[in-house]
Amino acid sequence: MIGKLNHIAIATPNLDEAIKTYKDILGVKISTPLDQLDHGVKVVFIELPNTKIELLEPLGENSPLENFLEKNKKGGIHHICFEVKEINSAILSLKKDGATILGDGKAKIGAHGKPVIFLHPKDFNGTLIELEEV
Ligand code: CO
Repeated sequence: MIGKLNHIAIATPNLDEAIKTYKDILGVKISTPLDQLDHGVKVVFIELPNTKIELLEPLGENSPLENFLEKNKKGGIHHICFEVKEINSAILSLKKDGATILGDGKAKIGAHGKPVIFLHPKDFNGTLIELEEV
């Protein structure tokens, strides 16, 4: 069902510091920060030759990152995102196979302006998985 690895998302308590680390130590180019109120995150993207890294910081109240950062004070890998061709047929197939889709179970517009869903970590070895229609 899944295609390419689209990105790996890393949660950080301080986006500016994370940006500095990635720029100064790893020498990457970083996109302009983007507020995504719908998802409760502020995000930047790092383009690598074979995938992307998303750096995330909580935004607004009830950010889904708050819990994660309480458990992982310095941040950590928050989710990985795979590409799918058709999100709605992916949803049907996942439901049939008993996977838990977070939220209302419907696709939302994600960080790249494309439909996404998130799958519960309990079904995937403790890893939060995002699927993005590409
Ligand atoms: Co993501």
